[in-house]
Amino acid sequence: MAANPSPLTAPTAEDFRAWHRVWSAALAHDRPGDPVPSVDALRAQLTQDGSDSRQVLWLVRGSGQDPVATAALRLFTAPGRAHLAEVDMTVHPAHRRMGAGSRLLATVTEAATEAGRRTLATRVIAGTSGESFLATRDFAPALRLGVLRLSLDDIPEPIGKLPDLPHPGYRLTWWEGVVPDELAAGFARAKEGMADMPGGEVLGTVTGAAGAAGNEERVREAARVVARRGERLLTVAAVAEADGAVAGYTELVLDADAGGVAQQYDTAVLAAHRGRGLGLWMKAAMLRLVPTVDPAITAVTTDNADDNRHMLAVNSALGFRPRRRVVIYRLKLPVR
Ligand SMILES: CC(C)(COP(=O)(O)OP(=O)(O)OC[C@H]1O[C@@H](n2cnc3c(N)ncnc32)[C@H](O)[C@@H]1OP(=O)(O)O)[C@@H](O)C(=O)NCCC(=O)NCCS
Repeated sequence: MAANPSPLTAPTAEDFRAWHRVWSAALAHDRPGDPVPSVDALRAQLTQDGSDSRQVLWLVRGSGQDPVATAALRLFTAPGRAHLAEVDMTVHPAHRRMGAGSRLLATVTEAATEAGRRTLATRVIAGTSGESFLATRDFAPALRLGVLRLSLDDIPEPIGKLPDLPHPGYRLTWWEGVVPDELAAGFARAKEGMADMPGGEVLGTVTGAAGAAGNEERVREAARVVARRGERLLTVAAVAEADGAVAGYTELVLDADAGGVAQQYDTAVLAAHRGRGLGLWMKAAMLRLVPTVDPAITAVTTDNADDNRHMLAVNSALGFRPRRRVVIYRLKLPVR
C-alpha cells in the first residue's frame, strides 16, 4: 500500500466503482439496513463541488489493487468559513485495525493544513470504531446530535391538521428547486436565521452559507448544486403578510436512491418571528406536501443538535423518533 496516497485528480469509472465497494461494505458493517447509494449517486456526490466548498479525494488501494480506504476532504470557500475543512473517511471493514486509517488521516490532515485550514471537523456515529479511533488522537468532541426519523405512517393525527390552524400575519408558500425571483432576496436574508443555531459554527448550513444575506445568487446556486446531484429540493416558507419578508423556511431533499427516505436540510425562523409556532407550522406543511410531490417517500430523517431544544420539541411533536447518535469532532490545525 502506498505510504502517502496522492489525491485523485481525474477519477475514472473504475475508481468510483472501487470507492463504492468500500462504502457499501462499510455501510453493511456499520449501519446495517441503511440504503446503499448507487455508483452514479456516489459519483455525483463526489464530483459536484458545493456552492460554498470544493472536495479533495483519496482512494487507497492494497497491493492487489483491492480498494482499502477512501477520504473526501471538503474545503469550504464561503466568507467566514475558509478556515474550515471537513473529512469523511472510511476504511473497508476487512482492512481495519491495520493502520490504514491512521496513515490516511495523516495525509488528509497535512493537506488541510497546507490549504491554510485551522480546523478539521469529522462526523462519527457515537460508540463506533470512528469514536474509538478519534479518541486516540487530538480530536475533541464539538457537537452531539441525534439522528431522528419519522415514518410518514406514524404522524400523529392532530399534526395533520396543524397547517390549517391560523397564524395571523403569515402565509405559507412552497417551491421546488431554485427560489422564485420575487422571494429570492427575502429567502437569502432568512438563511441568516441558521447562523445562530446551536452548533452552526461547526456545521454551517447545508444549502447555502450563513451570511448569504443579500446574496441571492449564492442561494440559487446552492439549489442548483442539489439538482446537479440528481436530487429534488423542496422548500416551504412562511411569509410575513405585512412586508412580504420570508420569516422562516424548511427544506427537504428527495433522493430517488435513498430508499424512500427524504433528508431534512435547513429549518430556520428569523429571530424577530420566533416563538409563534412557525417552525412546527412549516414542517407540518412540508410533511403534508411530500407525498403529493413524491408518493415513494415513506420517511424523513433529520439531525438535531442536543442543545437545540426548540427544534427537538418541534421534531418530537411531529413524531420524529431517535435512531442513532452522532458526534462531530474537531481538530485544531497548526498555522503554516
Ligand atoms: C475509524 C476508522 C477510519 C479507523 O480505521 P482503521 O484503519 O481501522 O484505523 P487504525 O488501524 O489506524 O487504528 C488506529 C487506532 O485507533 C483505535 N481504534 C480504531 N478502531 C478501533 C475500534 N474498533 N475499537 C477500538 N479502538 C479502535 C485503536 O487505538 C487503533 O490502534 P490499534 O489497532 O493499534 O489498537 C474505521 O474503523 C472506519 O472506517 N470506521 C467507519 C467510518 C468512520 O467512523 N469514519 C470516521 C473516522 S474519521
